[in-house]
Amino acid sequence: MQWIIKYLTSSIGKKQIMGCTGAFLALFIFGHMCGNFQLLNFDQVSAQASYNAYTEFLTGFNPLHFPIKMIYLVELVLVAAFALHIFLAIKLKIENKKARGGIDYELNVRKGKKTFATFTMIWSGLFILGFLVQHLMMLKFGEHYLYMNDKGEIVRDMWLTTIQMLGNPAWAAFYVISMFVIGMHLFHAISSAFQTMGIAHQKWTPVIDLAGIVYSVVVALGFAVTAAGAFYLANQPETQALIEKSRALQPQYEQQQKEKEAAKTSYVIPSVGTVEVSFNAEI
Ligand code: HEM
Repeated sequence: MQWIIKYLTSSIGKKQIMGCTGAFLALFIFGHMCGNFQLLNFDQVSAQASYNAYTEFLTGFNPLHFPIKMIYLVELVLVAAFALHIFLAIKLKIENKKARGGIDYELNVRKGKKTFATFTMIWSGLFILGFLVQHLMMLKFGEHYLYMNDKGEIVRDMWLTTIQMLGNPAWAAFYVISMFVIGMHLFHAISSAFQTMGIAHQKWTPVIDLAGIVYSVVVALGFAVTAAGAFYLANQPETQALIEKSRALQPQYEQQQKEKEAAKTSYVIPSVGTVEVSFNAEI
């Protein structure tokens, strides 16, 4: 037990945990970028259908029939990874500064001819945190549009929510700039994580560095192109027509909600309390 505490409080332990959480987040970011390409079909109706089917699949995915949706577990792991990564970054930054008698780490590092990305790691990291707050507020908890899926159910239209946000030139520009910052952060993080893990090899280190550059450029460009493409799509008359169609679904949606409520039956079980049972027509 003692060794775990010793490891977790040591500088190398913290750096390795940062590396692992960072690697996990980098994988998530890549998957997220690939999924988001579905926003960009220039036939808006197809883009809307495929993107909404994709988000419905992600939110409903539960092959093992857990009592809690898989997406909540994934979100919990994501929040924990982000929180740990950020907490350790700030802690290491403060400890490094203290160890150098108050002189900033970057000042020393710059003398060692490191890149601009190294110099700005903590600031690009804090910028990404700000980006994430905006991102989740505007998309996850943002405006609700409605969409009728191929089963005739009215669900949330994530395609319209996302496209509409990026249709605002200020947000589209903010996204393109943010992707540049994210790319820079990833670029330095990858080579630094391998160094922390003790992988420094004459032959392999340049290959890892190159892979890091390619990965960061692909991710930054992939997201930036998505944001720019979404901006274009949002400002087309076909998209505006889809917004009207979405708004027209409101009365039908309310009716659907009422029917769902009515299908629920409450039972009072003495030692448990009130239990609501919902009868699903598909069963
Ligand atoms: C063009 C760029 C991007 C677009 C269009 C986009 C789109 C979205 C959408 C639509 C959601 C909500 C999904 C839902 O609630 O069903 C989402 C969630 C999220 N995005 Fe992005 N995203 C972009 C870039 C990024 C980047 C660069 C990061 C990381 C730095 C990121 C991290 C997240 C996270 C952590 C969530 C929450 C995941 C969840 O709750 O399951 N996104 N994004």
